[in-house]
This record gives sequence, C-alpha cells and structure tokens, in this order.
Amino acid sequence: MALDAGWADEVRRLARERDAVILAHNYQVAEIQDVADHVGDSLGLSRIAAASDASTIVFCGVHFMAETAKILNYDKTVLIPDSNAGCSLADAIDADQLRAWKAEHPGAVVVSYVNTTAEVKAETDICCTSSNAVEVVQSIPGDVEVLFCPDQFLGAHVQRITGRQNMRIWMGECHVHAGITGADLKEMVDAEPEAELFIHPECGCATSALYLATTGVVPRERTKVLSTSGMVAAAERTTARTVLVATETGMLHQLSKANPRTEFRPVNRAAVCRYMKMITPEKLLASLREGRDVVDVPRDVADRARTSVERMIAIGTPSRTKE
Ligand code: 13P
Ligand code: SF4
Repeated sequence: MALDAGWADEVRRLARERDAVILAHNYQVAEIQDVADHVGDSLGLSRIAAASDASTIVFCGVHFMAETAKILNYDKTVLIPDSNAGCSLADAIDADQLRAWKAEHPGAVVVSYVNTTAEVKAETDICCTSSNAVEVVQSIPGDVEVLFCPDQFLGAHVQRITGRQNMRIWMGECHVHAGITGADLKEMVDAEPEAELFIHPECGCATSALYLATTGVVPRERTKVLSTSGMVAAAERTTARTVLVATETGMLHQLSKANPRTEFRPVNRAAVCRYMKMITPEKLLASLREGRDVVDVPRDVADRARTSVERMIAIGTPSRTKE
C-alpha cells in the first residue's frame, strides 16, 4: 500500500509531541527504518534504550526487544506498535523449562540469547546477542559449565569459536533462519563464485557454511559470520561486486544504503520474519497517536532480569547503529 505523502512528517511530529525516541531493528520495513531515530541490532538498540533521556521509547521490532527496553527503563513508557509481534526463538524455551534445566546442572552459568522472554532473562546469569555471544562465553571461567539457550545454531557457532567443551546447548531455532539451508547457500555460491558471504549465526546454513569453507567448497576468506549490525560495518568496507546475504531480507535495506556500489543478494528470498513485518507504517502512526501498545513487565521479573541484561550491555564492542 502506498504511504500517505505526509506520513513521515506526521510520525516525526507526533514523536516530538510525545517526547518519544523511535528505535527500529534492521529487519523492519524500509519506511520504518528511514523514519526512526536509530536503526540497529539487538545489542545496539538495547544500549541506546539504556542511554536515552526521552520519556517514551517506541520500539519497532519484536516483543522481547521492547521488553528489554522496558527492563532497562522501568520508569519510562515503552510502546510497541503491535504487541502480537512475537519471536519463534523466544518461544523455544520458557522459565519452567529453564528452571528444570538448571536443576539438572547445579553450579552452571546460564547464558541466554537476548531473544528470550523477560521471565527467562530473570532466570539467566548473562544475556548475549549475536554480536557479543563469543565474548560473553569467554568471560566465564573455563572450568565452569555453561548452559546456552535457546538458539542451537548460535550455540554451535560460539562453541566452534571458543573451543569450549563444557557447554550445553538448548535445541531451539528461529523458523526464518533455520529455513536458510546449506543447500540454498551452495546453490547461490555455485551461481556466484566470486561473491562474498555474510551469514547470521542463527542460520541453519551457518554450520554448513563453515564446514563448506573448511573443505574449500565455499571460499573461507570470503565467508563472514556477522550480527546484523556487523553486516552493515562489513558492507561499508567491502569492495566485492556481489555479496550473498544469509539473514532476514529486511537487512538488505541498510546494506544497500551503506554501500550502493555492491549488489547485496539474499541467499533465500523467502527469509521474511512475519513477526517483524507485523510492525507496519500505519501501526507506527497509530501507536504514536494513541499511545499503544504499552509494554509492561512485572517489577519483580524486571528487577531480576536487569542484572543479566546489564551484564550483556557491558560486554563486547559497541555494535553499530544508524542515527
Ligand atoms: P541481531 O542480534 O543480529 O540484531 O539479530 C536479532 C534477531 O532477531 C535475529 O533474528
Ligand atoms: Fe525471532 Fe527469527 Fe524473527 Fe529474529 S527473525 S525476530 S529470531 S523469529
């Protein structure tokens, strides 16, 4: 649907009126990325949410991201344009399952990917995102067992990089990234043998890509496993004519803006997160007009979850966001 010519001006006017900052994840539709104050990955947006002095945060992303903003800014109003925007990965483990897993491994440190509910974060020692997961696990003494949840592909990536044996991985997955397969990747590489590869560590193909790279089927030196904002930084630096991108297709917008000389092609065009796309330009406008949907987290859950999120924010190099 074509947007009203005055849509962006009205969004900006309402944001000023509400003293609101608009944050958008790299997978949002292009119009929302372009109107937002900041665009970035989960870690970068968490850092901005923590530092913001606006009285309202409008989070254009999925629900766990808006919950994280609320945990870090308990006295502020946090809005999400559609509170039904969930995440299949966050649904892969709940607090009861995590408590039962912890009971089987007393003394283990729990590392949870930020794609988890506030209740799961409240049972977690340190959260991580795709851009600092390796550093978070490396920060834990080598003789301490680690329980890593909920993403099996990110877990496998971290285990490969750290070489850590005493790490148990929950077998969750994101339906979008698990759907990008090694076969998709191989087909694209065969068609574009000179291309570079940017791969999100949640992808089903992340494991096969590294296997293919070590066996020489795909070029090792041109295969990069990156968070969404790591991809933007790599896009600015690349001189490749073509880059094959294995993640949600919303990512292509920031990559093309970062480097108009390179062609960024999705490894799988069908890799679209229906939850991220539930946040539409019309719903953003309604959210600012009507002050909805309000994101709430019970105070005791937020207080317990905050420690694990603050540890996550403190670890790793700041990820890149667009202002
Ligand atoms: P990033 O942490 O790279 O932003 O990824 C978040 C996400 O939901 C991936 O699907
Ligand atoms: Fe969740 Fe996957 Fe969507 Fe990311 S792409 S928000 S992990 S369902």
